[in-house]
Amino acid sequence: MSPTLNARRTRARASAATGPRRLLLHLATLLLQIALLAGFMSPARAEVAIPPVVDISPLPPLGETWLAANPYRGNPQAVEIGRSAYNQSCARCHGVDADHQGNAADLRRVDAYCRRIADTGLRAACMLDNDAFFKESVLHGKVRVGVVHMPPWEGLLSQEVVWAIQTFVESRAGSAK
Ligand code: HEC
Repeated sequence: MSPTLNARRTRARASAATGPRRLLLHLATLLLQIALLAGFMSPARAEVAIPPVVDISPLPPLGETWLAANPYRGNPQAVEIGRSAYNQSCARCHGVDADHQGNAADLRRVDAYCRRIADTGLRAACMLDNDAFFKESVLHGKVRVGVVHMPPWEGLLSQEVVWAIQTFVESRAGSAK
């Protein structure tokens, strides 16, 4: 065997060994960079749902089956219980007492469109829609393409607590600009 051929074979063996390994290394580095970037870009790195501790015994119990409409609307006890639950679980993103000093949606405005409707029947239908939207938003959170903007609360909040929070938020509607 000529010395040149031998040298060429050694080179070929060397690159066969390092080629795939280098590719794997590149891939691992790339994956790490993507993971880091996703972590930094996500506004919800530590977005876990923290359930509130509230006494719901003053409120009429509602059972397990979700109602279509908020049964506590205007109930002053629901406002107080809802305020406490809201400030424990929602305020860090939506602002203390729903004052919209957080970085999330202004919850005082969620039903603003319905409140402007003069026709009683239409307004009731709008509120029913709004109740469904509120409930769905809270239970399922706001998760888009894997990014948790708001964590889901299903299984953590009873319907008594969800409707009480909505009742409280509605009581704050007048303070919205
Ligand atoms: C970790 C932050 C965070 C927490 C905690 C949080 N939210 Fe949110 N919430 C958001 C963000 C951000 C949005 C807007 C998301 C979007 O639509 O992209 C949102 C949207 C909503 C919406 C829909 C509003 C709209 O007009 O579209 C409702 C209703 C809502 N949140 C209720 C609640 C309630 C009630 C709680 C407490 C039980 C709560 N949120 C706790 C971040 C949070």
